Order: sequence, then C-alpha cells, then structure tokens
Amino acid sequence: MRIIICENYEELSEKGAQFFESQITLKPDSVLGLATGGTPVGLYKNLIKWNKEGRIDFSNVTSFNLDEYYPIAPDNDQSYRYFMNENLFDHINIDKTKTYVPDGLAKDPDAECARYEELLAQKGPVDIQLLGIGRNGHIGFNEPDTTLNAVTHITSLTESTIEANARFFDNITDVPTKALTMGMGTILKSKKILMLVSGKEKHEVLCELLNDDISTSNPATLLKVHPDVVIICDKAAYEG
Ligand code: GLP
Repeated sequence: MRIIICENYEELSEKGAQFFESQITLKPDSVLGLATGGTPVGLYKNLIKWNKEGRIDFSNVTSFNLDEYYPIAPDNDQSYRYFMNENLFDHINIDKTKTYVPDGLAKDPDAECARYEELLAQKGPVDIQLLGIGRNGHIGFNEPDTTLNAVTHITSLTESTIEANARFFDNITDVPTKALTMGMGTILKSKKILMLVSGKEKHEVLCELLNDDISTSNPATLLKVHPDVVIICDKAAYEG
C-alpha cells in the first residue's frame, strides 16, 4: 500500500483525478471501477472539467459501479445510478450503455448479482477501482462481519452505515436497509485500487489500514494483500 497525504480535500480530489487521467491516457478503453458517497464528488468534478477542456476522452471507457441500494428505482434521486448520472455521466462524453450499476429493481437479487459478476468477468478486469471507506471499514457495502463474501451479493446494511448515509435522505427510515454490492474478491480482482480517505471521522479506520493487521472486522484491511493499492488521504484523516 502506498499512501499520499494531501493538505486538504481539494488537493486529494485533484491527485485522485490525475490517476484517472493517466489511466485513460495510457489506455483509452480502460475499465473503471467507480464509487459513490461524498468523498469522490470532488474527483468527479475534476474529471468533468478536464473532459470539457479536452484533457480526458471517455468515449471508449467502460465503467462498473461498486454497489446499489436494494430495492430502489434508477430514477429515484437517492439511487446510486442517479448519483452517477448527476455527478459524472451526464457531464462527460461516456457512452452510458457502457456504464454498469447493479439493478436495484431486479426481481431476483441473487440472479442480478450473478449476472453482474459474470458481466465483470466478461468485460473486466477493472483497470482502476476507486474506493471510499465507511467509518466502520466497509468498502462498497461489504460490512464488517465474521466472514466476508467474495462475490457480488445482496447484503444488509449495519446500523452505523444506515446512520452515516441518512444525511443524504429526508429521514433515516427512508434509507434502504439492503444493497447489492461487489464482493471482496470482486474488488481484489481490480488491477489497481485507489482509495480516497477524507476527514477526521475516518482517522481511526485509516490507522487500521496503516498497521500490519488484517481483519474481517475492518473489511478494507483485506486490501493489504493486493499488490497495487494507493491511498490518498487528507491531513484531517491522517492526523485525526
Ligand atoms: C457508502 C458507499 C461506499 C462509500 C461510503 C463512504 O456506504 N456504499 O462505497 O465508500 O458510503 O461514503 P463517504 O465518502 O460519503 O464517507
């Protein structure tokens, strides 16, 4: 794991976007793994700006998102599909038919997870996977547990994640309690992983990434077995 410590969120967002710019410049038909949450929004803003300036061309790019709430309609403004359209896809020259997000309306969620995993196997591997991190160490929606799931699956959100994500909803009771998410093995198949960690409330969980322990009680620590992980954090997260 390599760690880059930035002065603030703006610098973190710029450095993160530079990784994507380099990736797409070197391989225009890259497969990107994308994430939601508050942290990547600044990075996406830079990608939009640089696409408008002609610095990045997304026309041959494919993308896979980590997760989606379940059940939720794609046009619900709290869905991750809606988030991706609003915060990135609607503003860049990507072919939307090549942007994949698990289907939050699938009648059979297990079949949808199997389809998503298969699609990734066909079109992947992901060249660069962007990750945020939950305060409890979740990545995608792989929540702390005694065992973790390797493949795309349906999962229940923990109380702590529901509380943390309630800020995006009118009411905490509106937060879906389930989600479809890539599994730990799915994520670890990515060639490169870029994790963004911002804010002092992520300090504790970041410290657990920087020691030598791996534990399913902090799923992100499993990234320590991956050969190419870069963590970009700001000083607030690093110093606490
Ligand atoms: C959600 C997403 C995660 C994300 C996490 C942290 O639960 N499923 O992919 O990393 O939130 O979000 P934030 O960046 O807003 O702290």
